[in-house]
Amino acid sequence: MGFLSIREVSLAIQGHMILDHVSFDVNQGEVVGLIGPNGSGKTTLFNLLSGFLAPTGGSIHFRGSDITNCSPSVRAQKGIGRVFQNFGIFRDMTLEENILVALEALPHEQKKLLGDMKFLVHRTLAMVGLEKSAKKKAGALSGGQMRLLEIARTLKCGKDLFLLDEPTAGVSPKMTGQVSGLIAELKREGKTVLIIEHDLPFIGRICDRVIVLDVGKVVLEGTPDEVKQSKELQEIYFGADPTT
Ligand SMILES: Nc1ncnc2c1ncn2[C@@H]1O[C@H](COP(=O)(O)OP(=O)(O)OP(=O)(O)O)[C@@H](O)[C@H]1O
Ligand SMILES: [Mg+2]
Repeated sequence: MGFLSIREVSLAIQGHMILDHVSFDVNQGEVVGLIGPNGSGKTTLFNLLSGFLAPTGGSIHFRGSDITNCSPSVRAQKGIGRVFQNFGIFRDMTLEENILVALEALPHEQKKLLGDMKFLVHRTLAMVGLEKSAKKKAGALSGGQMRLLEIARTLKCGKDLFLLDEPTAGVSPKMTGQVSGLIAELKREGKTVLIIEHDLPFIGRICDRVIVLDVGKVVLEGTPDEVKQSKELQEIYFGADPTT
């Protein structure tokens, strides 16, 4: 069984199969891309993984324990970190306050292991090149900088599995480079990443493996090169080739 193991997971809403017997594993330390056309069920799968929705069938195991029916907060305590798109950044707080509130909210046992909070806040900001802005309000950051801050903060809160939903959406090309640099850093630290992206070259650069969803089903799985060269992918994204 993988670090994260998704077995026959289905979600039916009013008789409509949003996800249809989805199964795949993610190994510890792997960066796995989840791609597929709009409406194929990628974000819905993240909602099932983070506990905001319950599947109508199948099971989800994380580190060998069944989390299918655990609440979002229990999953977060177990080390699953979902990074929302600028959802958890408080614009009226300074950058350092934004990190401190997240650290303060951790369970006591975990907090004891963190060491000096001030130093940790500094290191978190330095990770994404924002240490000079520690006293600035987060509302002054660009969308891309907020995304970076959010990912770095999730990392320093002791999460092991990262669920990133389109982290480069609406981010400038320069910032996209920084986001991929940060994901490479997560990987170096041994973290596991599941990432939804429409930007296929970006996925090709950072992922070990790619899983393709189409109409709620896993239709392809392989290395970025294998997936890029597959005829099925072309058909899913661009329709069947009329010349064949
Ligand atoms: N709560 C819900 N009730 C009914 N239908 C839903 C619900 N949530 C999602 N859907 C439907 O499920 C399908 C999958 O949606 P989802 O947002 O997971 O797709 P996605 O792959 O993330 O798409 P995108 O690439 O556009 O973000 C869509 O047809 C959507 O309309
Ligand atoms: Mg989505």
